[in-house]
Parts: sequence; structure tokens; C-alpha cells
Amino acid sequence: MELPPGPRAPAVWQTIAWMARPAAFLQGVYRRFGDPATIRTYWTEQPMVLFSSPDSVRAVFRLDPDIAPAGQSWEFLRPFAGPHSILLLDGEEHLRERRLMQGPFHGERMRAFAPMIAELARAELAGWRGRVIALDRMRELTLTIILRVVFGAQDPGEVATLRRAIDDTLATVRSLPSVLGMAIVRRDLGPRSPWGRFRVAVERFDATLFDLLARRRGAAANGAANGAGDRQDNSMLDVLLAQRDDGGNPPSDQHLRDELVALLVGGHDSSSASLAWAFERLARHPSVQARLRDGDPAYLDAVVKEALRSRPPLTIAPRLLLAPVDIAGHTIPAGVQVAACLWLAGRRDDLWPQAGAFRPERWLDGGSQPAPNPLSWIPFGGGVRRCAGAPFAEMEMREVLRAASELPGTLRPGRAEPERARRSMLVLVPNRGGEILVG
Ligand code: HEM
Repeated sequence: MELPPGPRAPAVWQTIAWMARPAAFLQGVYRRFGDPATIRTYWTEQPMVLFSSPDSVRAVFRLDPDIAPAGQSWEFLRPFAGPHSILLLDGEEHLRERRLMQGPFHGERMRAFAPMIAELARAELAGWRGRVIALDRMRELTLTIILRVVFGAQDPGEVATLRRAIDDTLATVRSLPSVLGMAIVRRDLGPRSPWGRFRVAVERFDATLFDLLARRRGAAANGAANGAGDRQDNSMLDVLLAQRDDGGNPPSDQHLRDELVALLVGGHDSSSASLAWAFERLARHPSVQARLRDGDPAYLDAVVKEALRSRPPLTIAPRLLLAPVDIAGHTIPAGVQVAACLWLAGRRDDLWPQAGAFRPERWLDGGSQPAPNPLSWIPFGGGVRRCAGAPFAEMEMREVLRAASELPGTLRPGRAEPERARRSMLVLVPNRGGEILVG
């Protein structure tokens, strides 16, 4: 069975293009080969067939997880994500884990985080003067937010220790040379090699996390003994700690650790990348900033949607095929990855009028143009694996951009030319980090 056409360049070159110039690479593949197209990178062991039209995207999201498990596509994350990670599970196990992890995201509980996020965002933006690299600031802010939301961490010492452990671990997988080194040499060659450095960082991270879990369990037990057992704590960890399986057993430390890592990994780099892009776009669109200042919540929402459409931080939602499947008229054999291409779906000119333009108005102009097709706006993926944190992520973006709209003066770009995308671990970020001038 033949795979759809794709670049003939060796996998090593496709991997470099995929990492260093991902947007140009995907656009180029689409221009030359159309939809679907097959790419070969070291990112996955198998070739990957990319789909981006609404019909094929729907078909990919509806694939039976028994035939097209998504967990296996994230296998390379296992050393950090852990064996219980929602990212790696499939079928019944995945659904069970997903039900547990959705607990902390329930409407009211999640909305209660908004004022805290707004306050942290205002405090962060109040310090902005001159040249600001939005990505650096957003990494710091979204990590602070996620530490508060996930762990309820308030004590400055605890926040600093957690922050260092997470930053050290993520730093080993964010740089292009380390990731390429890890993709090409898939073995741990000692503590100075890319995998070795990663392993040491994960061990240190785990020690910090297990220590925190022991203290939280101790505090919960003390609280119960002191008659404060029904005290309502609101961090996601508190919700996860209180959960019981069908046999009434509390989650193990290892299970909790893996859930926390999924929330931290899912909720940190993708959110900071989206916000850095939003600032990169806003700085080049003073009229959008002006309209944001009017305080219309619908417009704020449109800005968030448009930033996620035009610069989705994740480019693909991959599934590994265990049996041949038919996707929108194409028979794809077993043993390859198929992916809904989140990036192309939002950027194809046949799917979006002036796809390259940043126009939040397209979400509001009811009647003056066709309503956007929901299957072409898929920054959070879809189907049973759709991002568990999507409502939280959109709420966080709204709060940060609302705080930005309250800044005096207009944000301007650091340099005239728009920033191209480069890969940082799993996400696409602006290549200069979203360089803006403030004040
Ligand atoms: C703008 C920010 C974000 C974007 C663009 C994003 C995007 C995504 C995407 C594309 C997936 C994979 C979907 C698929 O395979 O079909 C995903 C999964 C996931 N995300 Fe997010 N995400 C964001 C923020 C967050 C946040 C803030 C959290 C948690 C606090 C989070 C937690 C998760 C989890 C747990 C999964 C795994 C879901 C599963 O496998 O069932 N994400 N996200």
C-alpha cells in the first residue's frame, strides 16, 4: 500500500526543518504535495501522514483508539510523563484517567481561579518597561499561575523550589541541539549526554515532588485529626488527593506524580507560547490593541481565538495506526502515524479568507463572511483526546490579555519583520521570543 506523497529529503533534513523552521516546512509540504502528505522525521519512528481538511480532520479525531492509539505517539515522553500519564494511555484506561483529571477543571472551581490569574497578570505587566521578551515573561507568569492552581503553592520558598525543579527539567528538552541529540542518539550515554542530563533533572524533579506530596498528605491527615477534615482546599492537587478509585483507595504517589506532570507539561509551555504569540501579533496590530481597550468581552474572546488560529502552539495531534484505515477517501496502511495538522488547518487559504492576516473581527462579523468551520479551528486537538485544559487555557489567555489592554500606551514590535516560528520542545514559539517595546 502506497503512502501519500511527501518530501524525498532524508529524515535528518526533514527533522531539522521540522525543528528550526516548522511553519515554513509545513506550508512548503502543503504547497508541494497538498493534503494528505507524508513526512519523515526523527520525531516519530514511523512516517507521518498529515491531514488538514475538515473531513479528514473529523475522520482522524473519530478513529477508534483500539486501531489508532494516541498514547503511543507520545512514547518518547515516557521518561518524564511516567507510566500512568494520561498522555500515554489509551482506550478504557485513558478514559478513566481523563475522568479523574477533569475533576479539577469543573466550571465553578475553574472560574474561581480567574481573579487570582488576573491579579498575577497585572502584577507581572506592571513591571514591563522598554524591550520585553514576551516568551520569557510568559513562561515565568504561566509557571507561577500553574504552581498556584495545581499545587496551591503560596509559600515563596516552596514556589521557588518547585519552579527550579521544573525549569531545570524543561530546560534539558527545550534547546534544539539537545532535542536533536536525543532524537538521533536514543540512549543514555552518561550524565553529560542529552539523555543523561534529562534523566538527572527528572530524578531531581521527582524527589521534589514526592517530598511535597508527603507533606501535603501529612497536612491533610493532621487537618482531619484536628477536625478540619471537611476544609475546602481548592488547588487541583487537593482535588486529586481526595479522589478514590472504585475500591475506595486513594491515588498512589506515582499516579499523582504522573497526573501533576501532565498538568504542568500541558499547562505551561503551550500557554506561554500562545501568549507570547498573542503579544507578538498585538504589537504589530495597534488597531486591535485600541479595540481591546474598549473592554468588549466578545472582542477579547475573538483576539484569543484568532491568536490560537493563526499561531497554534502545537502543530499536530498524532495517532499511530495498528490497522489500515480509510481517511476521507485515502487508504492509509498500518504502522504509520496519522495526524490532524492543527497548524495547517488554521492557515490554509482555502479554509480561511486571508488566512495569513491577524483579524479578530473574523470571529464577530456575523453575516459578512461565512462562519469559521469548527473543524478548521483545532488548536486544542479533538475527539476523546481534546485538550483537558482548554477552557482553563482560554480563560488564562483572556485574563492576561485583558490586563495587557489596561497598560498605558501602545505595545510596539522590537523589529519590523514579523517573527517566524521555531520549535521549543513540543511547541512553536516566536523565534525572537516575541520581542516587544513597552511605553
Ligand atoms: C493554549 C494552551 C493550550 C493548548 C493550545 C493545548 C493544546 C493541546 C492539544 C493539541 C492536546 C492534544 C489533543 C489531541 O491529541 O487531540 C492537548 C492535550 C492535553 N492538554 Fe492541552 N493545551 C493547552 C493548555 C493546557 C492546559 C492549561 C492544561 C492543564 C492545566 C492542559 C492539559 C492537557 C492535557 C492533560 C492533555 C491530554 C488530554 C488527553 O490525552 O486526553 N493543556 N492540549
